[in-house]
Amino acid sequence: MGTAMISVVTAARKKTSKAGQRMNGIVIFGAGQAGMTLYRLLQRGGRRVEAFADNNRLLWHTQKEGLPVLPMEEVLALEPEEIYVAVVNETAQKEIQMLLAEQGYEGRIILLSDLKKRYNIRLATARLLAEEIRRRRVPGDIAELGVYQGAFAEELNRLFPDRTLYLFDTFSGFDERDIQAADGKMAQPGRFSDTSVQAVMARMPYPEKTVIRQGYFPDSLGEMAAETYEGRFALVSLDTDLYQPTMAGLSYFYSRVSPGGYILLDDYNSPQFPGAGKAVQEFCEREGLSVVPLCDLHGTAVLAKYGGGQ
Ligand SMILES: C[S@@+](CC[C@H](N)C(=O)[O-])C[C@H]1O[C@@H](n2cnc3c(N)ncnc32)[C@H](O)[C@@H]1O
Repeated sequence: MGTAMISVVTAARKKTSKAGQRMNGIVIFGAGQAGMTLYRLLQRGGRRVEAFADNNRLLWHTQKEGLPVLPMEEVLALEPEEIYVAVVNETAQKEIQMLLAEQGYEGRIILLSDLKKRYNIRLATARLLAEEIRRRRVPGDIAELGVYQGAFAEELNRLFPDRTLYLFDTFSGFDERDIQAADGKMAQPGRFSDTSVQAVMARMPYPEKTVIRQGYFPDSLGEMAAETYEGRFALVSLDTDLYQPTMAGLSYFYSRVSPGGYILLDDYNSPQFPGAGKAVQEFCEREGLSVVPLCDLHGTAVLAKYGGGQ
């Protein structure tokens, strides 16, 4: 940033302050998919978002969700009370934070990564569900379809040290057989391939309770797909992001969830990966089921299997 730009900002600030036009609202820095997810979350929580900021000139003075997308200096001139930095890359988040500080911004800066750590609603919900499962003595194993680097699988393993945890993933990212137009443009073959079975196993607190099923789901079910297979599940996390494996996961797991058990459905409300929510809606309509959506950054929903428990 050059000195010229700083002086423009200062002049504009004085003008708005003098006129008593302090914005006192929120600006989201990043008008991409992460910014839109955060916008919906804040709006549902009753927070007033005033504008988006973005470094991409092509977006300047366009509208997103009915709000203006502005360059950084125009946003600063409006003196927002909070700026949420909604870009996925953590280095880029820090750079934006530094730039804002250099420009003399004195309000609160909230980084997406900090927000995810502080308000991990999916994890908090999984902990509550684990308590319910224990209290009601719901029988069954635990499973996750869509493991990636194992961040959530690690928590599932920690929550249920005495139950087998089945982990299903290609461990080479999205498979091209699954990619459909309905999945949106973020669905690219090989996405999420920066992982390995070894790396995932290394982070499991109870590796002896972890069973890896590597490969394309549903093929990776192997003998578990047989009608005679008697395994049941108390909690399943479906997190493949895509229509086809989400539908395949629901078709396999729902009938095998014990009464009183749950399925956690990641990306049910995701602007990035619309196919996952579409699959859940279609499945629920067909089976006469309904989900409880959570207001979290993953767009998670919970499907409870009626009955059971003691
Ligand atoms: C968003 S990541 C999972 C993130 C993980 N649950 C977490 O919370 O850290 C989605 C994963 O789904 C996997 N996946 C998608 N389609 C699949 C399929 N048909 N079979 C197996 N794995 C699949 C991808 O390989 C990817 O690792």
